[in-house]
Amino acid sequence: MNGVTVVSHPLVQHKLTQMRKVETSTAGFRRLLREISLLLCYEVTRELPMTSETIQTPIVEMESPVLDGKKLVFASVLRAGNGLLDGMLDLVPSARVAHVGLYRDHETLEAVEYYFKAPESLDERLTIVVDPMLATANSAIMAIDKLKERGANNLRFVCLLAAPEGIENFTKAHPDVPIITASIDERLNESGYIVPGLGDAGDRMYGTK
Ligand code: PRP
Ligand code: URA
Repeated sequence: MNGVTVVSHPLVQHKLTQMRKVETSTAGFRRLLREISLLLCYEVTRELPMTSETIQTPIVEMESPVLDGKKLVFASVLRAGNGLLDGMLDLVPSARVAHVGLYRDHETLEAVEYYFKAPESLDERLTIVVDPMLATANSAIMAIDKLKERGANNLRFVCLLAAPEGIENFTKAHPDVPIITASIDERLNESGYIVPGLGDAGDRMYGTK
């Protein structure tokens, strides 16, 4: 898996349209994000390594496929990353979870770190970083910097919307990390928001301003 993958599945695109609408409620936004996260999780885990085990069905013994290797890690970029995390944990309940607390300074658009907690042995695990928005990419780049400092060396980044400017910055900083997104939007506006976008993902998820 390399570069940028746009998940064009009709269900993803339909739900994303509902999320973009300004009239969608907080509850509706959260529900849709959780639903889309299941479909994005399906896509990002497509190439997980497999092995097999011998099992007994009610009829015969067989060799049957199971996931191989250490438990994977979902790294949620707070706050909005948690909206993708919940659905992903429904599909991969045994995954480990890292939390990277960052907010964007509204003046400088630089990411400011306020929390970091990650599981052990990141160097032996696939780490899937989740955040709905890739705007300037300052947040995603810093989150991945921190995870790499802790040993992560096999990463994917999953978002809902990516701006072309963010993709360019991200790819320069972390060319080894594939991006999986539901949409590449047009551009950033003068305040660093994605256009057409969906607004501030964290605020829409939690009903804040
Ligand atoms: C949003 C979003 C990303 C970041 C993207 O978070 O969830 O983390 O902005 O912007 P960037 O690519 O320009 O860094 P925000 O800082 O609003 O924090 P929140 O999730 O707590 O609302
Ligand atoms: N963060 C958001 O939540 N929305 C944007 O459009 C840009 C950054």
